[in-house]
Amino acid sequence: MRTQLSFTPLSGIETEVLAVLAVDTQTSKASDAKPEPALLTADAVVLSAAKAALASGEFKAGANETMLLHAPSWLAAKRLLLVGLGKQAKATTHGVRSAAGTAVRFIKPRGIREMVFALPETDPKILPHAASVRAAVEGAFVGDFDSDTYRSERKDQSVESFTLAAPAAADKTALQTAFAEAIIIGESQNFTRSLVNEPGNKLTPTILGQRAAEMASGVGLAWEVHSTEKLRELKMGAFWSVSQGSAEPPALIVMRYEPEGVTDGPVLGLVGKGITFDSGGISIKPSDKMEEMKTDMAGGAAMLGAMRAIALLKPKVRVLCVVCAAENMPSGTAQKPGDVQTAMPFSSDKPGKTIEIINTDAEGRLVLADGLTYARQLGATHLIDAATLTGACVVALGHVTAGAFSNDEETWSKFNAALATSGEKFWRLPLGDEYAEMIKSDIGDIKNTGGRWGGAITAAEFLKVFVEETPWIHLDIAGMAWVEDSKPYIAKGPSGVGVRSILEWVRSYIS
Ligand code: BES
Ligand code: MN
Ligand code: ZN
Repeated sequence: MRTQLSFTPLSGIETEVLAVLAVDTQTSKASDAKPEPALLTADAVVLSAAKAALASGEFKAGANETMLLHAPSWLAAKRLLLVGLGKQAKATTHGVRSAAGTAVRFIKPRGIREMVFALPETDPKILPHAASVRAAVEGAFVGDFDSDTYRSERKDQSVESFTLAAPAAADKTALQTAFAEAIIIGESQNFTRSLVNEPGNKLTPTILGQRAAEMASGVGLAWEVHSTEKLRELKMGAFWSVSQGSAEPPALIVMRYEPEGVTDGPVLGLVGKGITFDSGGISIKPSDKMEEMKTDMAGGAAMLGAMRAIALLKPKVRVLCVVCAAENMPSGTAQKPGDVQTAMPFSSDKPGKTIEIINTDAEGRLVLADGLTYARQLGATHLIDAATLTGACVVALGHVTAGAFSNDEETWSKFNAALATSGEKFWRLPLGDEYAEMIKSDIGDIKNTGGRWGGAITAAEFLKVFVEETPWIHLDIAGMAWVEDSKPYIAKGPSGVGVRSILEWVRSYIS
């Protein structure tokens, strides 16, 4: 998708479609109160072209509601597309993100390949211009993505050109900066989505390692991709225990972002679960929906997308990334319930913690245990991990909000603040000693499941054992990595959740 930022007055722009946002200004809550849609533009010609349509009562300016007008009077545009933001009092920049996605997804199936999207003009305290630019461009990239890449007669409906039209009076430099950043972020989120979309046979751990390496080389990141031998050398017994049942070798993906001149301050460690297919192993999953377990590398893919954006946006903070990729399969060489595994030792003078395997389907925490330890050993002072870790998190929060955990208030508050910019929904769940009790093992240090109740929390407690005192955030994105039903602004399929929030969290450490 080609993108441009324009400061030309809306009425004069020649385009297939000019999209303009609208809000419902009705403040009365009375049951007979009719919506009062109003366009978020000061352009008198656009306002007059839409006047009759707005007065008709057909368009209520509900969130992501659309209305298309052909041959709008006195506009150079061939069509005028009205996109609703919902109630004026509830308008947010994230609403602008969705509206831009909605506009893009509106034109795609109609064979239109080019559009102009008008930046909303309203009280800048409600919708600040630069934030709206970011949201609109990110939303456009998210909306442009479709997942049907393996259809043999696939029609590529990608939008060729997306122009954002901003008011001439706006701060051009600030908008240009936001615009350039948003392109990087939108493309990085789509990079993550393209990885999550791949089926398990097309994206083995080895291939994920290759894709990561290609990306890293392309954006100038230092990288290493290791396999079985390195796991042995590092004594990554927990990571290997998942991989041992598969014919596909594991991949330990490591990336380093070291901005010039930054030699002190924090080193942020991004750790991702990269299970390219999760059958459950010997504790095999039921066949219903098992195909969805090709998405079990979404946490790792989110970290790779965030690293891509970091490399291109160049924040002045050091970042490293560890993705543990493996396939969880049942076989004659697979680990068994009851087995005891020894996790990677942090230093050679202390042995690694022992883990009793209760359920081989609780594999994500095993690969992450060694990934977190390795990130600390490489020098991470702060950790963030992302994983499609537990069904329990989906039970708790549905497909609406992702789970989050932290052992450190300051680290959490930075992440929480990042959410305001990213527009992503994460909800913090508790940790606590009573939960830690639930994963104590009779035979070893800990066991890999804590039973049915509080399953998302006991999984987080398991990870916390390997984090030790390092400030840390754990993101359980199990319910959010895959969009179950298509929405006006995003296709059914991989969501790319996490990329934007992780990136903003990283950027909050710039000194
Ligand atoms: N990858 C799954 C979690 C998952 C479930 C992701 C649904 C996406 C959608 C994970 O490896 C898993 O199997 N977790 C088990 C843990 C249990 C055995 C303690 C679960 O949640 O059932
Ligand atoms: Mn599993
Ligand atoms: Zn899994």
